[in-house]
Amino acid sequence: MNNNKLYIVMVGLPARGKSTIASKLKENLVKNSIKTQIFNNGDLRRKLGPENTSYPEFYDPKNREGVEFREKIALINIKRATDYLKGTGRVAILDATNVSLKRRKKITELLTDHAILFIECINDDEEILKASIDRKVAHPEFSHLGREAATRSFRQRINYYQSIYTPVEKETNFIKLDSLYNKISDEEVSDDIPYYDRIRDFLVTDTVKNLFLIRHGETYFNLQNRIGGNSGLTGDGKVQAEALAQSFRNKKVPVIFTSKKKRTVQTAFPIKRLQNDCVIIPLEEFNEINSGVCECMSYEEIRRKTPHVYLSRKEDKYNYIYPEGEGYVSMKERVDRGIKKALYLSSNPQNIMIIGHRAVNRMILSHFLYRRKEDVPYIYVPQDKFYHIVATQDKKLFQLKKYNL
Ligand code: F6P
Repeated sequence: MNNNKLYIVMVGLPARGKSTIASKLKENLVKNSIKTQIFNNGDLRRKLGPENTSYPEFYDPKNREGVEFREKIALINIKRATDYLKGTGRVAILDATNVSLKRRKKITELLTDHAILFIECINDDEEILKASIDRKVAHPEFSHLGREAATRSFRQRINYYQSIYTPVEKETNFIKLDSLYNKISDEEVSDDIPYYDRIRDFLVTDTVKNLFLIRHGETYFNLQNRIGGNSGLTGDGKVQAEALAQSFRNKKVPVIFTSKKKRTVQTAFPIKRLQNDCVIIPLEEFNEINSGVCECMSYEEIRRKTPHVYLSRKEDKYNYIYPEGEGYVSMKERVDRGIKKALYLSSNPQNIMIIGHRAVNRMILSHFLYRRKEDVPYIYVPQDKFYHIVATQDKKLFQLKKYNL
């Protein structure tokens, strides 16, 4: 066995992030001069299919014709992957569901010249699944169906795959990955797997090529030093949003994540307007800290009316939780979830943008940039500058940039 070469076999139900991970992994390996190719069964099926194969019954395990056709596709890709590694290729990624034991046995029987690493992607978060399916059904193969019918059809396809799904367990080398949280839930590696540390470390790294982290523009509440609430942008806030839009007009920003609050969405609108193809995705996870009984009060009022809140917060700002509200400590879980969702939903674009709030942005920054907990609530988050963050396996960059007003 040549231990320079490797087969990676993706496993998982449709819409679990397999192809996104495969393509990011390929990009990472190629960047490091490890020649890698993806062999995707879905792409080949669409190319060679005698007809449109998007209808659900095509995936019914009892549909002999469908089964035979998909087997044929799998065999062609297995052969292509083998040929690739016989040549100068170093890593061949078989990107397909590969959920049945039968299919994985066949792969193991046929690919004997190099080690095989199975990567199983699991993610049962219904909201993420729904968003992934929405993206899938926008594919031209569903263009003959309405959105609802396409979604029903895709869900039925998933059910058929579910009926033959056996999770990886007995395979010699495997990683089970929670593809939303980049967490390895189980792994078994018995062979000497080339590039293993690089691949494993890559799978658990939150990768952002260019994340532009912006705080919303000035609001009426900001002027009065009031916290929380759902105030809109002032005239100056709108000017800030326009200025931001101008400074991003020559960059491609396909997706802007905001909170569900008016001020972040209002800041996003002008930016979207100057982009060709851009969606705004408001996530609850990026809402500002809930200051409970102090919502809508000014800092001055808090000091006067609720001195206990003022003093306790001053003492330990990170761990302090507002009565009936949140603290930095209790926001962590939801903000982390928001980051994972944003990274997952944006697939693999060059640039993504998050427009958040002061406390939320501090938490987002501390996700990528190490800070002691007690320092997090004091991270500098101005309204006339934004953070440019790059966080990959090979590069970390944090830059505070001023935009032209
Ligand atoms: O003042 C704006 C604001 O976003 C408030 O809504 C929020 O409560 C506060 O900043 C968070 O900052 P700090 O934790 O420093 O009070």
